[in-house]
Parts: sequence; structure tokens; C-alpha cells
Amino acid sequence: MQLPNHGANPQNVYRQLGLVMPEDVYDFSENVNSAGPPPFVEARWRTFYPLIQRYPDPDGEPFLTKVAAFHHVIKDSILLGNGASELFAVLARRYACKRVIIVHPTFSEYERTLQAVGANIVPIIVEDIVQYALPMEQLKREMVNADALYICTPNNPTGVLPQKVELEQLMIHGANVNCELVFDEAFIDWVDEGYSLIGHVAKNPHVLVVRSMTKMYAIPGLRLGYLVANPAVVRELKGMLAHWNLNAFALVIGAGCLDEQYYCQRAITYARNQRDTLQSYLQENGCQVTNSVTNYICFALPKNQSADAFFTYCLSKGVVLRHTHNFLGLNGEWFRIGIKDITAMTYLHNCLQTWFKAN
Ligand SMILES: Cc1ncc(COP(=O)(O)O)c(C=O)c1O
Repeated sequence: MQLPNHGANPQNVYRQLGLVMPEDVYDFSENVNSAGPPPFVEARWRTFYPLIQRYPDPDGEPFLTKVAAFHHVIKDSILLGNGASELFAVLARRYACKRVIIVHPTFSEYERTLQAVGANIVPIIVEDIVQYALPMEQLKREMVNADALYICTPNNPTGVLPQKVELEQLMIHGANVNCELVFDEAFIDWVDEGYSLIGHVAKNPHVLVVRSMTKMYAIPGLRLGYLVANPAVVRELKGMLAHWNLNAFALVIGAGCLDEQYYCQRAITYARNQRDTLQSYLQENGCQVTNSVTNYICFALPKNQSADAFFTYCLSKGVVLRHTHNFLGLNGEWFRIGIKDITAMTYLHNCLQTWFKAN
């Protein structure tokens, strides 16, 4: 099957498979917060308009100060990006022609950006998809000869949070064997800041943490993310970015988002409830389901059911799931479902019910 490499833009899935797109489509293939942006964004929308006439602040204010205060880190240790994606692109240049370990199955942009700069990529595939248990000994062995290790925590697409003590062990090992660690915490807002590794950056110049504002705050169209690392690393990476790499709207809206604790808490509770219900339902129907802590889950059908037939069946009903054909270790056998609003979740339930009754 020739399918898009990312979720979202469901019309591309139908087009690439040569299928007619139904009038009503529920897109479960992307995993941004289904609540939409915090209400202040719409309420203050007109006040943002005058910003269009000025260049944005080249240092990224007022967002930069907000990020520093939010994480209790110095501003010099923060690099702002036009989405976390821009940060991965620039980060890859740090590892051009170097040896980099990627733990799979995971977000495909690490590999794409590293490949583009000729990095020597070492893929390590996690076998226990449900628990996403890291192969610690293998990782430690490979780190001896590697320049960097990328880990997504919580992981996309499985949604599983690796154990913090294990990540800390890898961090200590990295310092000993001179291997940098890049932690992608794009989805950590769905858990708790206590699981973030940002607190370790100040004392560990070999640790880099990437964050995205896209997912929790439902602002994929704005493009906003940041990286926390040693100031020397930040300076080097900043030198490779465009002078005004962030637009003025992203900088004010991003600053406002970091005040939205109540909004985040509600989103976390909603996702947890929906996830628990969906996980139980899928397990009752014989599926393997990942131990996700995020606003999406991954599941595999019982062995006797065809993944491709199921995917096509869902599409015919207007239910677009995230296929996993381009994830090492999942190979199209698993599907990712992003948690959506109640109407969509009910529609999904009915669609799955019809499938499981007939199969
Ligand atoms: C794990 C992970 N990291 C980073 C990103 C990129 O996020 P952004 O929208 O901030 O570029 C994504 C987007 O899907 C993602 O899934």
C-alpha cells in the first residue's frame, strides 16, 4: 500500500488508495487535542491583528520568558523553533555524518532529517510494543560507538512512557561514553511535568529535550516548539536558524498557552477516560493495545483478522485511522487512534462494533 507518511490531511489517504472519500469523515489519524485551542485564542483574535505589521521579536519574546519561567531554566538554554519539526531539522545538522541511534517504532521525522544530512543511523527496534520496554543492554552497548541517541517520551505512535529511571540510567551512561541524548517530549503535556527530563539539562550538557506546543494546545497551524539544552549547544543551533524563525502570532499565543493549567488538566482527564474505555473495548475484542498515557493509543487486531481489510473497511465508513506501514516494528499490523470528541468517539465505537460482530 502506498500511503502518506504522516497522519492528518485524510483526503490524501483516500486519493492515494484511489477510494472515494465519504461526505462525513472522522479523522482519527492525527493526535492534537480535540478540544481545540484554549478559548483565549479566539476571544483575543482581533487583538493579534496589528502584529502583522511588525517583525516578530528575533529572540522570541514574549514566549521565551514564559518558557524559561515555566521550566525554571535560564533563557540561554532555550531554543525556539517553528514547530518541533524545525528543531529536528536543525538538530540533524549537528549529527551530520555521525552515528545516531533511533529507538523504533517512533516518529518518522528523526530518521528523515538525519538521513538528509548523511547520518549513519542505527535502528533499534523495541519488541514489546504494548509496554514499549527499552532494550537497555542493547542500547548501552550501541551507545559506546554512537554520537547520539533519540528517544521519544512518551512515544509516538505507541503512546507509552518509558520509565524515567531507565532514561536516567541511559543519561548517566551517555555521559560516560560520550553519547548525546535527544529526548522528544512532544506529548509529555499529557502526563505530568514530573516525568520531563528538562530538569536534568543544566547538569548534563549531553542532554537535549525537545518540546512541541502543537499537541496539547491544538495549534498545529501556528508552528511552535522549543528545545532545552546546554547554552553552547543552543548558540550553535541558533546560528543555523533564520533570524526571525517564529511568527509574531505564535509568540503571543504560545505565551498565553503556558498559563492554561486548567485547560490542560481537563484535556488530560478527558483523554484518560476515553482512552481507558477504548482500551478495554479493544481488549475485550481480542486486540493487543498499547499501554498509552497520551491522547492516542495503538492497537493490533486479533491474528485471524486482516489489517488491510479492516483499514479499508474503516475508510469506507468515513473513519480514518493512522496506518503504521512506515513504522519499523509495526509494519501496518497496528493502528493508531487519536482521541476525538464524544460524537466522533461514538461513531468510531459503532464502526468497530460492526466490524467485530462480522469478523
Ligand atoms: C513525537 C513528535 N514529535 C514532534 C512532532 C512535531 O511537532 P510540531 O508540530 O511541533 O512540529 C510530532 C508531530 O507529529 C510528533 O509526533
